[in-house]
Amino acid sequence: MDKSLIKILLVAIAINLVALCNGGITSPYVRGVDPSTDMPFNSDVFRPPKGYNAPQQVHITQGDHIGRSVIVSWVTPSEPGTNIIQYGKVHNKTEFEAHCNEVVTYKFYNYTSGFIHHCTIHNLQYNTRYFYQLGSGEVTRQFHFKTPPEVGPDAPYTFGVMGDLGQTYNSNETVEHYVSKGRGQAVLFAGDLSYADHYPFNDQRRWDTWGRFLERSTAYQSWIWAAGNHELDYIPEVLETTPFKPYTTRYHVPYEASGSTSPLWYSIKRASAYIIVLSSYSSFGKYTPQYNWLKQELPKANRSETPWLIVLLHSPWYNSYNYHYMEGETMRVMFEPWFVQNKVDIVFAGHVHGYERSERVSNIEYSIVNGKCTPVSNPSAPVYITIGDGGNIEGRANNFTEPQPDYSAYREASFGHAIFDIKNRTHAHFAWYRNLGKVADVGDSLWLHNRHWLPQ
Ligand SMILES: *[C@@H]1O[C@H](CO)[C@@H](O)[C@H](O)[C@H]1NC(C)=O
Ligand SMILES: *[C@@H]1O[C@H](CO)[C@@H](O)[C@H](O)[C@H]1NC(C)=O
Ligand SMILES: *[C@@H]1O[C@H](CO)[C@@H](O)[C@H](O)[C@H]1NC(C)=O
Ligand SMILES: *[C@@H]1O[C@H](CO)[C@@H](O)[C@H](O)[C@H]1NC(C)=O
Ligand SMILES: *[C@@H]1O[C@H](CO)[C@@H](O)[C@H](O)[C@H]1NC(C)=O
Ligand SMILES: *[C@@H]1O[C@H](CO)[C@@H](O)[C@H](O)[C@H]1NC(C)=O
Ligand SMILES: [Fe+2]
Repeated sequence: MDKSLIKILLVAIAINLVALCNGGITSPYVRGVDPSTDMPFNSDVFRPPKGYNAPQQVHITQGDHIGRSVIVSWVTPSEPGTNIIQYGKVHNKTEFEAHCNEVVTYKFYNYTSGFIHHCTIHNLQYNTRYFYQLGSGEVTRQFHFKTPPEVGPDAPYTFGVMGDLGQTYNSNETVEHYVSKGRGQAVLFAGDLSYADHYPFNDQRRWDTWGRFLERSTAYQSWIWAAGNHELDYIPEVLETTPFKPYTTRYHVPYEASGSTSPLWYSIKRASAYIIVLSSYSSFGKYTPQYNWLKQELPKANRSETPWLIVLLHSPWYNSYNYHYMEGETMRVMFEPWFVQNKVDIVFAGHVHGYERSERVSNIEYSIVNGKCTPVSNPSAPVYITIGDGGNIEGRANNFTEPQPDYSAYREASFGHAIFDIKNRTHAHFAWYRNLGKVADVGDSLWLHNRHWLPQ
């Protein structure tokens, strides 16, 4: 680069710094001691269920585009066992059976997985509790879930929101707070699940412990998955060269129902929400599959039917921590104009291990000659939430860029989770809870007005 250009850039940066100071709130709250160590293999939350070959790591997710199917997944450790799911609306009474054939195993370096089952239950009624049974004989296990209300503009629905969970003592607190509150009906998960890749050769046993750890929630309500960088499991040195192999083998999503060609990006409708999941770690440049899919997908969100347009992705676009700074920038440049045109309500991201909420801003005016490269207030823009604060082994992000930029409304270096509570087509309440040992405290909250129905 030419020296005078560098000078101009430095001046431009200095002007921007002045223009951008006086941002929002940087919470002074700092948690005392919270070592982010993984719970050991013999922890209570990792204990396999009793009995030979008992189904474990049970998790469910929406199985179609509209919420009338559920994908049930589980692992049997020693042999395939039965593939049949018995289910019905009455406890202990089998009304229906789903017979499935899908059992897979995978190898990773020197690890061989158990038998991974995926079975989709179809034609469920809306807003109905179902009981289901896995396994047979002495190792039969029972669970239940409730289907969402019929897709429609005023169907209230409460989502939990989490990201970057891992399996530390902090992760256990986050999950415990979410589960014990009992308010969330499904979880929007912003990527980075087990952090198995923290260990040599990405010790895949840590995927199994994670599956057992989360069962207390994932067996009873749908978790809507987005993939993060810790799902890549890419180690060419030992010839593990298929990115996302463990994740996509263990966690199925209904991507084909939204015309996607990859489980890493897809959409679903659930109650009054239209949820689009993207992959920060798959190509998204012009003409790529994800780009083409998203371009035709965004206009499909019919706001008369599903007023709330929600996007879930891993690497945040608006992040003022000193961690992963500007990593989301390339995707922002590609897709932000579409988000603004289509009036996305809210974007949930993870990756940065803290909490942050943006103002409604956009940064889409820039062209290579006009120099307009500062975020500006924009009522058509989404609120961006970073919620990578589940509590994983890498610890908290606790170093911010200073001064706090204008676009940043609130940021805090604590672990926690959030509740996104849709009341009707115009109003939703968002609350973020920080972990405080045995209790969780509201750290940040606000009412969101729907961008289509109440744009002021
Ligand atoms: C995890 O949290 C649950 C619920 O609070 C508790 O029963 C369990 O003992 C905790 N496990 C560990 C290893 O901290
Ligand atoms: C269902 O069956 C289990 C195990 O046999 C039993 O413990 C439970 O009480 C039964 N529940 C109902 C509602 O019948
Ligand atoms: C896999 O390799 C690691 C590292 O060499 C070793 O510690 C572990 O015992 C091996 N596991 C199996 C199942 O062979
Ligand atoms: C959008 O949804 C409304 C309400 O369900 C329906 O009446 C309308 O036909 C839909 N519009 C399109 C373009 O599908
Ligand atoms: C925080 O980040 C700044 C800028 O990158 C760096 O100079 C500083 O040393 C960091 N502080 C800590 C405590 O890591
Ligand atoms: C939507 O919910 C908000 C918040 O509960 C409430 O104030 C408002 O009156 C509701 N709107 C309608 C049309 O019911
Ligand atoms: Fe990440």
